[in-house]
Amino acid sequence: MKKKTALIVGATGLIGSELLQILLNQSEYKKVIAIVRKPLGFNHSKLEEKVIDFDRLDESIINFEVDDVFSCLGTTIKKAKSQEVMRKVDVTYPLTIARLTKKMGAKQFLFVSSLSANAQASNFYLRIKGELEEEVSKIDFDSVTIFRPSLLMGKRDEFRLGERTAEVFYKALSVCFIGPLKKFKAIQGTTVANAMFKAAQLNHKGVTIYPSDEIQELGSS
Ligand SMILES: NC(=O)c1ccc[n+]([C@@H]2O[C@H](COP(=O)([O-])OP(=O)(O)OC[C@H]3O[C@@H](n4cnc5c(N)ncnc54)[C@H](OP(=O)(O)O)[C@@H]3O)[C@@H](O)[C@H]2O)c1
Repeated sequence: MKKKTALIVGATGLIGSELLQILLNQSEYKKVIAIVRKPLGFNHSKLEEKVIDFDRLDESIINFEVDDVFSCLGTTIKKAKSQEVMRKVDVTYPLTIARLTKKMGAKQFLFVSSLSANAQASNFYLRIKGELEEEVSKIDFDSVTIFRPSLLMGKRDEFRLGERTAEVFYKALSVCFIGPLKKFKAIQGTTVANAMFKAAQLNHKGVTIYPSDEIQELGSS
C-alpha cells in the first residue's frame, strides 16, 4: 500500500503528543508534518517540524502534499482568558487548517471534538465544538472523522483542578457508566490517540462520529 504523509496540529498536547509518536512509529506514514507554535524538542527521521504563527496560517500552510490531517488543538477558558481567544484556538485555527489542506489535496481530516458537542448548546464550550463539527463536515474531504471523548485522563505538565476533581468523581462512579451511560466514562488520552490512528486507516467515506465508548473500543483494540 502507498505510504502516506500525515499533518498534525496540537502535537504538544495530551492527545497530540501520543498521536505524534504513533504516527512516527507506524509504517503507514512515510512523513509526519507537525505544525507547532514552539519547537517539539526532538528529531525523528520522518518528522518535519514547522514552527509557525497560528494567526498567519494561510502564509505558513502552503504547498504541502498531505494525505491525512489530524487536529488535537484546543485550549481552556483559563488559559485563553476570553471566549474570543478560545473560539480562535478551538474553531478558527482547525477550520482554517481544514480548508487550506483540502485545497492542497488532503483526503481525510480527523479531529478531537467533545462529548455532547452541539452547535445549539447554551454552554459555550459545547457550542463551539459543535460549530467546528458542522463547519468541517461541510468541507468536501473524502473522509471527516470526529472524536467526541468524555473527560480525558493522562499525565499533564500543568495542573487542572477542575479536570482532576472530575476525574476523582468519574473514577468513583465508573461502575455506573454502563449501557447507554458508557459514553460518559473518562478516557485516557493515549486511547484517543490510538483510535485516531486506527480510524485513519479505515478509509470511511463521508462524516463519521465516534462517541467516547466507541473511541474506547477502537483505541484499545
Ligand atoms: N480535557 C478534557 O477532559 C477534554 C475532554 C473532551 C475533549 N477535549 C478536547 O480534546 C482536545 C485535545 O485535548 P488535550 O487535552 O489533548 O489538549 P491539550 O493537552 O490542552 O493540548 C492542546 C494543544 O493545542 C495547542 N494550542 C493551544 N493553544 C494554542 C494556540 N493559541 N496556538 C497554537 N496552538 C495552541 C497546544 O500547543 P502548546 O503546547 O503550544 O500550548 C497543544 O498542542 C481539545 O480540543 C479539547 O478541547 C478535552
